[in-house]
Amino acid sequence: MSTPEPQPGIMAIAPYKGGESKIAGAEKVIKLSSNEGAFGPSPAAVEAMAEAAKSIHRYPDGHSPELRQAIADRYGLAPSRIVLGAGSDEIINLLCQAYVGPGDEVLYSEHGFLMYGISAMAAGATPVKAPETDLKADVQNLLAAVTDKTRLVFVANPNNPTGTYLTEDEMATLRDGLRDDIILVIDGAYAEYVVGTPGYTDGMAMVHDADNVVMTRTFSKMYGLGGARLGWGYMPEDMASVLNRIRGPFNVSVPAQAAGLAAFNDTAFTEMSRAHNDEWLKRTQDALRQLGLFVPQDGVGNFVLVRFTDEATAEAADEHLKSRGIIARRVAGYGLPDCLRITIGKADEMEAVIAALRDFMGANT
Ligand SMILES: Cc1ncc(COP(=O)(O)O)c(C=O)c1O
Repeated sequence: MSTPEPQPGIMAIAPYKGGESKIAGAEKVIKLSSNEGAFGPSPAAVEAMAEAAKSIHRYPDGHSPELRQAIADRYGLAPSRIVLGAGSDEIINLLCQAYVGPGDEVLYSEHGFLMYGISAMAAGATPVKAPETDLKADVQNLLAAVTDKTRLVFVANPNNPTGTYLTEDEMATLRDGLRDDIILVIDGAYAEYVVGTPGYTDGMAMVHDADNVVMTRTFSKMYGLGGARLGWGYMPEDMASVLNRIRGPFNVSVPAQAAGLAAFNDTAFTEMSRAHNDEWLKRTQDALRQLGLFVPQDGVGNFVLVRFTDEATAEAADEHLKSRGIIARRVAGYGLPDCLRITIGKADEMEAVIAALRDFMGANT
């Protein structure tokens, strides 16, 4: 008897593992493992979601018109070029589903976000990684890895888990070096924490007048709505029309749309979050460097990658943090077994992490 067979490539996918959220025996933990916003959701988003729950029996308007219009108005975009998804993961998935298949290659950098490879393989395509230089995407290496099979190139700016980013000039060199039939996807999951940093680009301006550039964004980080699943992409009109044909007709729920709109409009909350992150990103990077740990130069976003002398030390540091109720993220799956990624949390949480690592380093050097 034959058994059902999945599409080729699917069984080769290593399933994505989210950040841990529990420590056996610990009632209260400091969870710094998934780059969730330090302050949770805006109270306005929680209220909007509770209100939306009253009409949860109704299907959503699958075009998310109010939220799309709000995004379009704020950034001066055409709403018809914006596609909303259940997280930006869904936009990444839809791009792969629509534009690649068996025999095609999806290119990204060595320590790039794991979902690029998973979505590529789910569509039957082959993931290809280009080496990084000093934990940063390398434009020349990416261009050198392009073949006649390359269809999609993903660059997270900044990248998770390294925190490094391409400058506007470097991104332009990458785009200019790609054939017109290759789509460049600039993943701005952490852009809210970084926009305005000199030299940084979230890619939006590049999408305005190109036929083959896409920017993705999420509500899971600064907006604190990871559990609601909400993200969006800004892309050429033709590509939006392609994605709208294949996405689920009701892919973004009524509560997610309502919470997203309220979170987006609560600019006092996002300004407070950004100011906090600016301060604690630097304080954490400085403190860890003072302990003799390596932290990538110019790392940005709401997390810090920290490198230990070897894999065993990274594991011991992780265990030590757990013994103090702190959950960081192991990043061996990203090819960084000697590193941990630590999300920027509230001030007392960061003080606890720094103190724990100070004790760890004191005992281990
Ligand atoms: C670089 C990057 N892109 C995309 C995502 C996906 O976010 P979401 O699907 O929650 O919008 C993440 C989440 O960690 C990320 O780090």
